[in-house]
Amino acid sequence: MAKEGGPKMKTILQSEALQKYILNTSTYPREHEQLKELREETARKYGARAIIGVPPDEGLFLSMFLKVMNAKKTLEIGVFTGYSLLTTALALPDDGQIVAIDPDQGAFEVGLKFIKKAGVENKIKFIKSDGISALNDLLNNEASEATFDFAFVDADKPSYIQYHEQLIKLVKIGGIIAYDNTLYGGYVVSEEIEMHERSTVNRKAIIQFNNYIASDPRVEISQVPIGDGVTLCRRIIA
Ligand SMILES: C[S@@+](CC[C@H](N)C(=O)[O-])C[C@H]1O[C@@H](n2cnc3c(N)ncnc32)[C@H](O)[C@@H]1O
Repeated sequence: MAKEGGPKMKTILQSEALQKYILNTSTYPREHEQLKELREETARKYGARAIIGVPPDEGLFLSMFLKVMNAKKTLEIGVFTGYSLLTTALALPDDGQIVAIDPDQGAFEVGLKFIKKAGVENKIKFIKSDGISALNDLLNNEASEATFDFAFVDADKPSYIQYHEQLIKLVKIGGIIAYDNTLYGGYVVSEEIEMHERSTVNRKAIIQFNNYIASDPRVEISQVPIGDGVTLCRRIIA
């Protein structure tokens, strides 16, 4: 799809030519060398499954967003080989900290060599766990409450509502929770399409989550149509 080949990347843009244009004109020339290497290694190891990584145009958006908000302490649920994790680590200041949660340590280790090569592994605490248990552990430690500037959620879709209830207590007032895949390949608006069972479950979960978040008075929201859709939630009240 892109000039340099490789697997397809998630986008809700309806024109491949437009996606290609964005990637080739403003994204690839600005992609950090180790992010490019991590992306290429992921494609070699995972083939078509590499599509689940955050696409580089969304990565640039997240990076700028983290810098603009001066994020220092962040959390990520759903690491895979670490494209969004390395993006975050590169965007945080030298004393930044990221708690990164995923049950799949093997995938994290595929990307770890590029994280080390970029010199940012000191900012990352990887927790091999499902998200709900790891967030419960953090919540059981009062010192973690309302301390995170930013959280990125890119994991099992049926847990998004539960993650939200946990994360709302972990991010500071004024902090941001970003949820990935909230347009779910555009399928949020399409009923007739034949999907396999897991996708149907995920699609329903995303639709339910989108409705839930739209009426949550504790957050201000913006659904950004980049990548597969990213909903930004800013915690506004206790
Ligand atoms: C879409 S991928 C994450 C992509 C990643 N953000 C990137 O940029 O490469 C989803 C990840 O969620 C993880 N995952 C699945 N169920 C999970 C759970 N219950 N808790 C935490 N992570 C989970 C999977 O192991 C997978 O690595």
